[in-house]
Amino acid sequence: MTVKKICCIGAGYVGGPTMAVIAKQCPGIQVTVVDLNEARIAAWNDQDVNKIPVYEPGLSEVVSEARGRNLFFSTDVDKAIDEADMIFISVNTPTKTYGAGKGQAADLKWIELCARQIARVSKSDKIVVEKSTLPVRTASTLKDILQHTGNGVKFQILSNPEFLAEGTAVEDLLSPDRVLIGGDQNEGGRKAIEALVEIYAHWVPRERILTTNVWSSELSKLTANAFLAQRVSSINALSELCEHTEADINEVARAIGTDSRIGSKFLKASVGFGGSCFQKDILNLVYIARSYGLTQVADYWEQVIIMNDHQKKRFANKIIKTLYNTVNGKKIAFLGWAFKKDTNDTRESAAIYVADHLLYEQAHIGVYDPKVPAQQVYIDLDYLATRSSDENSQLVQVYNDPYEACKDAHAVAILTEWDEFKQYDWQRIYDNMLKPAHIFDGRNILDKAKLENIGFKVCPIGS
Ligand SMILES: NC(=O)c1ccc[n+]([C@@H]2O[C@H](COP(=O)([O-])OP(=O)(O)OC[C@H]3O[C@@H](n4cnc5c(N)ncnc54)[C@H](O)[C@@H]3O)[C@@H](O)[C@H]2O)c1
Repeated sequence: MTVKKICCIGAGYVGGPTMAVIAKQCPGIQVTVVDLNEARIAAWNDQDVNKIPVYEPGLSEVVSEARGRNLFFSTDVDKAIDEADMIFISVNTPTKTYGAGKGQAADLKWIELCARQIARVSKSDKIVVEKSTLPVRTASTLKDILQHTGNGVKFQILSNPEFLAEGTAVEDLLSPDRVLIGGDQNEGGRKAIEALVEIYAHWVPRERILTTNVWSSELSKLTANAFLAQRVSSINALSELCEHTEADINEVARAIGTDSRIGSKFLKASVGFGGSCFQKDILNLVYIARSYGLTQVADYWEQVIIMNDHQKKRFANKIIKTLYNTVNGKKIAFLGWAFKKDTNDTRESAAIYVADHLLYEQAHIGVYDPKVPAQQVYIDLDYLATRSSDENSQLVQVYNDPYEACKDAHAVAILTEWDEFKQYDWQRIYDNMLKPAHIFDGRNILDKAKLENIGFKVCPIGS
């Protein structure tokens, strides 16, 4: 079967970029990305391609090449489902905030709604592709819903988890380490797998397209994120030990990273990982393990999250302790709010939790981030419901200029590793701060010796 029309439900950080790249690489396939969120779709259709809702280096160019040719963004979900041969489900699967599994299990409400809508609308056979990250065995739920439509339509369900990293999404999609496709191990399943392989084979070498059974594919995505997050927590755990022993975490990371069995990636000590995926996917893994009674497995992975929470709190506590045990009324400048550089995504960003902890001590926070708008900073803090929205607005000010954000501050804290922070005129920042002027480098990106020469008291992570 050759796919001519694709529909993708969910125009977020995954649906938008993945479909833009498929459309770019497969001009013969019509790709329609649909979403219930009208504002988001309007932004994807904005005449000014720099105003699309997801900031990713290189994405505007890809969208501008394909949009209107074979890439479309729409709110007409039914029509796109009806016309498509293949439907990607790329909706959000956040951690449940209510009921059984609250705080751990994935909330599959949106996935189920999609399945029901596909079941209701479809008049011809379809391949349904799980692009969202899902608990292992979700495909059987989807199958159950889709197979009970009673209208004779046949569905094949594939798992095709997305491994892109925000900030390098376009690069990752154009040149993935691997593409993973899981499907049923019978004739229908194999044909569906081949149809999806054919799409990726337009630009991905065949040997990098791995095919497996559905459950291995679903579980591999959770496992990949758990392993990556585990490396961050491992190095962060040792950063605390370094601070007590005069070892330097950067030197330790270099020393172990050159061992080819360990490798150098994801060994950068920091204020802690954030993002919409790592925490939720590990919690999900923990929940599944517990639900099978695998207590040791669950406890083992849960520790990765416990360590990450500890690192964020430890960073905030270090600021408080260094500023003579009180930050009440003191301005602390935050450089960075996004969960990592080169993205405007702030979900689960360490900055939110560090800010919350400092605000609890009545600090005043000045935020500057090159890509995050003021409104998002307040949304993130209000979402925690730790204090009233009015209090958040009073205590936190968001700036468009980093020098203004740092003016009259007692301390600057680096929360995101944006490259531009390294290029700032740090003498100018120092001159406009209260003394002693402190820098808490939560990403270990600044030149400590140079800053100390200017007069700063510098506090990196892990040394
Ligand atoms: N963000 C990442 O880096 C990343 C990477 C790999 C995998 N994932 C996974 O991909 C999935 C999507 O993540 P995201 O970051 O793109 O989320 P997102 O919140 O940015 O986007 C999801 C979109 O789906 C839309 N939606 C929800 N229900 C819908 C429905 N019934 N009909 C139409 N639209 C609907 C929402 O309005 C939203 O715009 C998640 O499962 C996530 O775990 C994310």
